[in-house]
Amino acid sequence: MTIRMIAKLAAGTALASLAAGHAIAQDNSVEVLHWWTAGGEAAALNVLKENLEAQGITWNDMPVAGGAGGNAMTALRARVTAGDSPTAVQMLGFDIRDWAELGVVGNLNDLAEEEGWEAVIPAALQDFSRYDGQWIAAPVNVHSTNWLWINGDAFQAYGGGEPQSLDELYAMLDAFEEQGITPLAHGGQAWQDTTMWENVVLAVGGIDFYRDAIIDANADALSSDTMREVFDHMTRLAGYFDPNFSGRDWNLASAMVIEGDAGAQQMGDWAKGEFLRADLTPGEDFMCMRFPGTQGNVLFNSDQFVMFEVGEGARDAQLAMASAVMDPAFQVAFNTVKGSVPARTDIDDTEFDACGKQGMAELAEAAANDTLAGSLAHGHAQPAAVQEAFFDVVTQHLNGQISTDEALERLPQAIAAAQ
Ligand code: GAL
Repeated sequence: MTIRMIAKLAAGTALASLAAGHAIAQDNSVEVLHWWTAGGEAAALNVLKENLEAQGITWNDMPVAGGAGGNAMTALRARVTAGDSPTAVQMLGFDIRDWAELGVVGNLNDLAEEEGWEAVIPAALQDFSRYDGQWIAAPVNVHSTNWLWINGDAFQAYGGGEPQSLDELYAMLDAFEEQGITPLAHGGQAWQDTTMWENVVLAVGGIDFYRDAIIDANADALSSDTMREVFDHMTRLAGYFDPNFSGRDWNLASAMVIEGDAGAQQMGDWAKGEFLRADLTPGEDFMCMRFPGTQGNVLFNSDQFVMFEVGEGARDAQLAMASAVMDPAFQVAFNTVKGSVPARTDIDDTEFDACGKQGMAELAEAAANDTLAGSLAHGHAQPAAVQEAFFDVVTQHLNGQISTDEALERLPQAIAAAQ
């Protein structure tokens, strides 16, 4: 936030308190609800915390563990219902809209105008950062879910090239099996199952099918032969998991690859944060590559800090936090640690490692070529109720509770019922 902005805000606050006939107590702290509890995530968030503390703003941490934020959203509901909203909340896509609709979020318009956010935030993110034209959230990053992470030693021992198709992926996983390691590290949680599933939907059907089946939830696509192939691939991929995959957190699956107990993990690029925390070098100790069959396409999600309505006295600290999130230097410092790429389009890739450079270039290409689509598992394709319906069917199928025939029958029904 610029000095001019602070002065303007201070003047506004003073006038308001004069009018009200009493002084407003200033609360120079922010309370931040988030789910960044894994090593790489916490390290990245620390950059923001330190920025604010250097400005004299106290950081009250409210971490709610649980990948993809399901638990965090439950905790948030309880807080808002009790009339005690946090200052800022990490949030994904469609959830942002739901909260905006309830009229409990703040207004960042003056700050956004002062700092020119509109010109530097891609339209696909502004779709969620703004509601009815009003800025309500500051985007921190752009993540992408269609990645595969491979242990460097296992990959060298395999000796083949990076798999470009699902068939080539199976060849590599077979080789890992022969090496005596778990071929594919997986955490059996609904959001992780669906992260893998959306990758397979894209690999098998391409971007048009992804849009048809997932973004438009077209009932024919959801029960099509192409979707049958998707579920068959899921069954085949599950054959490469270890027996203890159920309920495992994503970062523990990453740790299996880091330690060489497993060959590969399908996961979004937040996994890179874990590899970097373990002091591993991309291209040597581990490989990052697009999930085989999805090259040229990007499934994205973006973490945004949604600013909730707070009392007048807490506004300055809240605006300072929003401004700190949008600061170009912060976007570099945070995203080089987190594994994501900046939400701003005016930042160059100099400071980023090879995976980050690839991520930035491919995001821009996908946006230009119209091969960019929102991630279902991470809140950028469907509202929560519909997303949950997908989660249920995908997870039950992956755990062998329903057959492929049943999945094809249930998917369109469950989606229709949730819409
Ligand atoms: C995603 C989020 C990432 C990362 C991941 C695992 O939904 O965008 O920042 O935190 O969940 O928790």
